[in-house]
Amino acid sequence: MKHIAVLTSGGDAPGMNACIRAVVRTGLYHGMKVTGVVAGYEGLINGDFRDMDYASVGNIIQRGGTILKTARSKEFMTAEGRKKAYDHVNAQGIEGIVIIGGDGSFRGADVFTTEYPDIKVIGIPGTIDNDLFGTDFTIGYDTAINTVVNAVDNIRDTATSHNRLFFVEVMGRDAGLIALRSGIAVGAEAILIPETKTHIDKLITQLERGWKRQKSGHVIIVAEGDDAGGAFKIAEIVQQKFDKLETKVAILGHIQRGGHPTCMDRVLATRLGYESVIGLREGKNRMMAGQVSGQVKFTPFSQTVKHIMDVNDTILKIAEIMSL
Ligand code: F6P
Repeated sequence: MKHIAVLTSGGDAPGMNACIRAVVRTGLYHGMKVTGVVAGYEGLINGDFRDMDYASVGNIIQRGGTILKTARSKEFMTAEGRKKAYDHVNAQGIEGIVIIGGDGSFRGADVFTTEYPDIKVIGIPGTIDNDLFGTDFTIGYDTAINTVVNAVDNIRDTATSHNRLFFVEVMGRDAGLIALRSGIAVGAEAILIPETKTHIDKLITQLERGWKRQKSGHVIIVAEGDDAGGAFKIAEIVQQKFDKLETKVAILGHIQRGGHPTCMDRVLATRLGYESVIGLREGKNRMMAGQVSGQVKFTPFSQTVKHIMDVNDTILKIAEIMSL
C-alpha cells in the first residue's frame, strides 16, 4: 500500500490531532504518500485533500480539536454521496483510509467498504463519549472527564458557599460513561445515567439524609441522555418535592469537547495512530484499532457500534456509599 488518507469525522475530541500526527508520520516513515481529507466525509465527497508531510503535523500534539476539521455528513449516508467520495478517492490513487471518529463514522465506513471493497479502511475511536466496543477508552474521553472534574470542583465552591444543590449536565449522548467516572471523582450526591432508571423519590431520600447530616454544597451529575429528561427538568421536579435547598443548573456543554489533551489521550492517540497504519500495511480492513487491557486489538466495525454500557453494579454501589 503506497498511498493512504486520514480524516476526522463526527464530534471532535481532544487527542485527534495527536492521532493525525501519528498516522502521518508512521505512513511517511514507511515510504507512503499521506493525504489529509478536510472535514471528514464531506471532504471525500467534495475532493478536499491536502498533501501531508512531517511539518504538516508539527506542534499539534498538544492542541485540542482537529487540524483537518470534521463534520457529520448526511450526504455520505446516501449511495450517491458515497459514489462521489469513491470517485475522488480513486482519482487520487488513495488505497487505504484511516478514519478517526465514533460509531456513526464507523457505520458509514462499513457501508462504504462493502460498496467499494478495493478501498481498505481502519477506524480509530475518537469521541469523548467512550461508547465503542473494542477499546477500554476512546480518544478524548480522559480529557473530557478531567474537564468535567475541574468544572464541577469550581461549582462545588459556590454550592458550598450558598449551600445550594447543583444539577450539572454532562455530554455522552445516550451513554453515561462521562457522568459515571466524573461523578465518582467529584463526590457527587447522585449520578443519573441512561443505563439505569432514575427514581426521583430515591433521590429525594438521599437529599433528605444529606440535609439531616448538615451536608453543604450538593452536586448531582446528570448525563444528557438520562431518562428523567435532563438537568433542568430534574431540578424542577426535585425543587417542587424538596424545598430545603435552592436548586441551580449548570450545563457544561461543549467545553467538554475542547482543551489540551491529557497525557493519557495523547499516548493512546499516538499508539492507535501508529497501529492503524501498520494494520493497513498488513492488509487489515473494516476494523477499528482499540486498546484493551493495555493490548492493541482490532475489532470489526460491525461489533464496535454503540455499546450500551452494562453498568458495573459495584461502581454504582460505591458511588452511593461515598455520597452518604
Ligand atoms: O458524540 C460526541 C458529542 O459530544 C456527544 O456527547 C454530544 O451529545 C454530541 O456530540 C453533540 O453534538 P454536536 O457537537 O453536533 O452538538
